[in-house]
Amino acid sequence: MAKMEVKTSLLDNMIGVGDMVLLEPLNEETFINNLKKRFDHSEIYTYIGSVVISVNPYRSLPIYSPEKVEEYRNRNFYELSPHIFALSDEAYRSLRDQDKDQCILITGESGAGKTEASKLVMSYVAAVCGKGAEVNQVKEQLLQSNPVLEAFGNAKTVRNDNSSRFGKYMDIEFDFKGDPLGGVISNYLLEKSRVVKQPRGERNFHVFYQLLSGASEELLNKLKLERDFSKYNYLSLDSAKVNGVDDAANFRTVRNAMQIVGFMDHEAESVLAVVAAVLKLGNIEFKPESRVNGLDESKIKDKNELKEICELTGIDQSVLERAFSFRTVEAKQEKVSTTLNVAQAYYARDALAKNLYSRLFSWLVNRINESIKAQTKVRKKVMGVLDIYGFEIFEDNSFEQFIINYCNEKLQQIFIELTLKEEQEEYIREDIEWTHIDYFNNAIICDLIENNTNGILAMLDEECLRPGTVTDETFLEKLNQVCATHQHFESRMSKCSRFLNDTSLPHSCFRIQHYAGKVLYQVEGFVDKNNDLLYRDLSQAMWKASHALIKSLFPEGNPAKINLKRPPTAGSQFKASVATLMKNLQTKNPNYIRCIKPNDKKAAHIFTEALVCHQIRYLGLLENVRVRRAGYAFRQAYEPCLERYKMLCKQTWPHWKGPARSGVEVLFNELEIPVEEYSFGRSKIFIRNPRTLFKLEDLRKQRLEDLATLIQKIYRGWKCRTHFLLMKKSQIVIAAWYRRYAQQKRYQQTKSSALVIQSYIRGWKARKILRELKHQKRCKEAVTTIAAYWHGTQARRELRRLKEEARNKHAIAVIWAYWLGSKVRREYRKFFRANAGKKIYEFTLQRIRELLGESRPKKARALSCETAMSCGRARLASKLVGRRVTGSQAVQPHPQGLWSSPSFREVQKYFLEMKNKMPSLSPIDKNWPSRPYLFLDSTHKELKRIFHLWRCKKYRDQFTDQQKLIYEEKLEASELFKDKKALYPSSVGQPFQGAYLEINKNPKYKKLKDAIEEKIIIAEVVNKINRANGKSTSRIFLLTNNNLLLADQKSGQIKSEVPLVDVTKVSMSSQNDGFFAVHLKEGSEAASKGDFLFSSDHLIEMATKLYRTTLSQTKQKLNIEISDEFLVQFRQDKVCVKFIQGNQKNGSVPTCKRKNNRLLEVAVP
Ligand SMILES: Nc1ncnc2c1ncn2[C@@H]1O[C@H](COP(=O)(O)OP(=O)(O)OP(=O)(O)O)[C@@H](O)[C@H]1O
Ligand SMILES: [Mg+2]
Repeated sequence: MAKMEVKTSLLDNMIGVGDMVLLEPLNEETFINNLKKRFDHSEIYTYIGSVVISVNPYRSLPIYSPEKVEEYRNRNFYELSPHIFALSDEAYRSLRDQDKDQCILITGESGAGKTEASKLVMSYVAAVCGKGAEVNQVKEQLLQSNPVLEAFGNAKTVRNDNSSRFGKYMDIEFDFKGDPLGGVISNYLLEKSRVVKQPRGERNFHVFYQLLSGASEELLNKLKLERDFSKYNYLSLDSAKVNGVDDAANFRTVRNAMQIVGFMDHEAESVLAVVAAVLKLGNIEFKPESRVNGLDESKIKDKNELKEICELTGIDQSVLERAFSFRTVEAKQEKVSTTLNVAQAYYARDALAKNLYSRLFSWLVNRINESIKAQTKVRKKVMGVLDIYGFEIFEDNSFEQFIINYCNEKLQQIFIELTLKEEQEEYIREDIEWTHIDYFNNAIICDLIENNTNGILAMLDEECLRPGTVTDETFLEKLNQVCATHQHFESRMSKCSRFLNDTSLPHSCFRIQHYAGKVLYQVEGFVDKNNDLLYRDLSQAMWKASHALIKSLFPEGNPAKINLKRPPTAGSQFKASVATLMKNLQTKNPNYIRCIKPNDKKAAHIFTEALVCHQIRYLGLLENVRVRRAGYAFRQAYEPCLERYKMLCKQTWPHWKGPARSGVEVLFNELEIPVEEYSFGRSKIFIRNPRTLFKLEDLRKQRLEDLATLIQKIYRGWKCRTHFLLMKKSQIVIAAWYRRYAQQKRYQQTKSSALVIQSYIRGWKARKILRELKHQKRCKEAVTTIAAYWHGTQARRELRRLKEEARNKHAIAVIWAYWLGSKVRREYRKFFRANAGKKIYEFTLQRIRELLGESRPKKARALSCETAMSCGRARLASKLVGRRVTGSQAVQPHPQGLWSSPSFREVQKYFLEMKNKMPSLSPIDKNWPSRPYLFLDSTHKELKRIFHLWRCKKYRDQFTDQQKLIYEEKLEASELFKDKKALYPSSVGQPFQGAYLEINKNPKYKKLKDAIEEKIIIAEVVNKINRANGKSTSRIFLLTNNNLLLADQKSGQIKSEVPLVDVTKVSMSSQNDGFFAVHLKEGSEAASKGDFLFSSDHLIEMATKLYRTTLSQTKQKLNIEISDEFLVQFRQDKVCVKFIQGNQKNGSVPTCKRKNNRLLEVAVP
């Protein structure tokens, strides 16, 4: 990588000196040598303080590349080697950062490089300012305005192939950020004479050549032009071609630039049409024609050209033709028309061409301004770039040079004012020690030219406006009178005798000692040029054009706006515009570029010292350096100075409490700046050497960087800390959540582990317990088994022992019985053998007979008797011995007859066993031992019957009288209803209570009780069936010994009383219901209402008691009819009460329904 050369000061690697202030010794020679040395080393820029001297290299140097732009961008002015970019950067930055409007004044003579310099400034600013689509468009439009204006305003001159023939001042406007917003261009004094005539070796304005070379055939035809330059009188032919210039290509560039700037196609074509018209105007030629009055009159030679012009511009040919032949003068409202001679016609033609072109140029500038003007109304910062013609000293200097040089005088004045005079004055004002430097103040020259009463311009105007014959000579005479005494005015004819013999001063000239040198002006043409006369006929003709642009260029041609006042002269117009420009420049911070032309040959590498020396002199550069060296390079008010550098000292940073001046003092002391390097003014600090300023700037820059680093550091620290705190907070939250999650998980794990362990332990415990239980169970089972076996063994042993004992006892008993029997028999043999046996036998036999009755067959009877006898015998025997005779005893073998037979033994055994198997004495006990032998079947049954009768008797013998009565009633009921009435079996188990209602005890029935004196047999609630509808009502049914009473259940009031003698019959069904009818004796008092139909739960008891009571009282049996259909007397009618089988859905209760008059149906379920 190539090592980059980085300069930190313009002092580094200096060729000669970069700043003329540093030149030692300082004189014209060293100054020029320094410039030459630098020029030879391609260093074309040199400073005088902040002024840039630029020497035209006439070759392209590689010092304007984008890299160079970057190099100079934002760098200190004195930091790098001198360059136009450094000045541009300084101006742009102080505009952007310090809000100071700037102007860049570029001066120098023709060909010195002013226009190039202005373009370099603009391109640098365009490169470093803001970017963006909109900004770029503005920049492009600003830059592209140059080719357009150059095409129309520049021309090849002997001094410069691209000489600007107008003055240009361009205000570039920026917003607060430094982005360009737009611009305004002012043009000054176009050299319009060039349109009709060019000096030898020079050309007309570029646009004419460009149009003819670059336009398409079609366009040329349209504009009625031919490509050949020689066809046009206004184009000089000897230098129509310029070396290295391609007019055709430039034409395309211009068209393109017009498009970018914002010209519509039709606008561009209109402009070209005007250019064509101007060209063609030059081809109109006149010939003299004598008139009758002897005066010459001009006639157009060839009207073809005129015709084409009229076609191009849309002017009536006759109108234009007349305008070229006549001149109308209006005076005191009278129009006087005079013919024009040929010379006047040519003058009119040229005047028209010049006016047309110069007005077109002004229109172009306005049109460009319209396009590039800033679109916003925000406050703008302005950078003005002034590219104005330099001082001109030609061989023949005319009105134009006079004007141009006047302008340069004014610019010099500004320069003097701002740099020299102002500087000195400031020093005095600020009470700074100052050695006065003499400098030439050109105000006196300006005054000579512009003074309103006796200035040259005022004289010229006066002469032009004066009635009578006015010529250039009369003007010169006037000057000779008025200005003769002025020390800068020289004229042969003046009163001043100094110049009377000066042969270098012709009679028709005057000379002015400009600040830049003496200039001899030819007075010829001054009056005409100042008048700038265009005959009114021509302007009116132009106004009549249908070509809109041309029409708009000549507003004074409008007859409606005729102004008899003369238009302002060229001189006064210029003076006014220069005054405006000066005013404008004074409000801005000036930056100077002084351009120097090294040679007259437009050649590179040639440095003509004489030429340069001349320029140095008239630009006053040496004086400039002297002032710079004597004074201070930099000054600044204390406040901004302190504000700017206060960060360099601890005491002043960040705030200085005291006055700004003492702050700056402290600051400079602290920084140890040598005292000779600065001075304290009243309100400003003056720094002698730029280096001190650079040092301060560098320190500041360094400090700012440190501060920026500090701010960055603190900000980064804050940011990091904020970030850290956030992270920490987040981390805590995350950790908390994570811990919670981890703990939860751990808890779950522990819980599940505990559960597993628990389950294992429980399982283990359970299995242990189970094992124990199983063990215990097995132990128990074993114990039980052992015990069972043991008990079994014990039991069997006991059984064996008992059996043994029993056998022993039995044997003893048998032996004892036998022994006892034999003993008894032996003792009582004597009694029995005689008669006892026979008697016992008979007695037994008789008893048996009694028991068996006589109906039995003899054989059976005999057998029974035998059995009984044997049995009786045994019993008897036992009685005799006074103890029970066991079976075995009873069946002991009998030595004789029946007793010893086997059947007898079985009968004996039967009886003895029966004795032990007797059932209980309850009459209802149906148990009876089973029959052991078939042959004893009848005996067994008979014995069962006898036993039952016997125990019944025994049972009856226990009854009281009361019980006997109940059983009698029950017996009576059984006889009356058994197998007749289905209700009967259910009544057997029910005891007959009779007085169900305890009338005696219940106070509710006290009245009823009092009414009845007899004994109450039945007191019960019955349902009395309503005869009419079969529905029932509760009644108390009372039966006494003599009467049957019905009483109200609630009140106890007796409703009916029937003597029992009147009751004839009781009817009821055979079914399982409680309905019964009580029939009454016909004709009896009780029967007046008819029979009663009741239903009662105790029907059987009631009927039985009614029957028994009636029987005991009347000795007559009451008729009880049991039938499923019977008649009942209801008053007069006999109604049939019919019992039918009811279905289950009516419930288990019998229901009674009156079917019709004759039928009452009772459904029994
Ligand atoms: N910095 C430069 N680098 C290279 N060539 C330059 C430079 N400055 C000027 N020139 C050359 O010098 C010629 C004349 O320059 P320019 O047109 O800027 O002069 P000028 O001062 O504007 O003259 P005029 O007053 O006639 O307009 C340019 O056409 C160009 O060829
Ligand atoms: Mg120029």
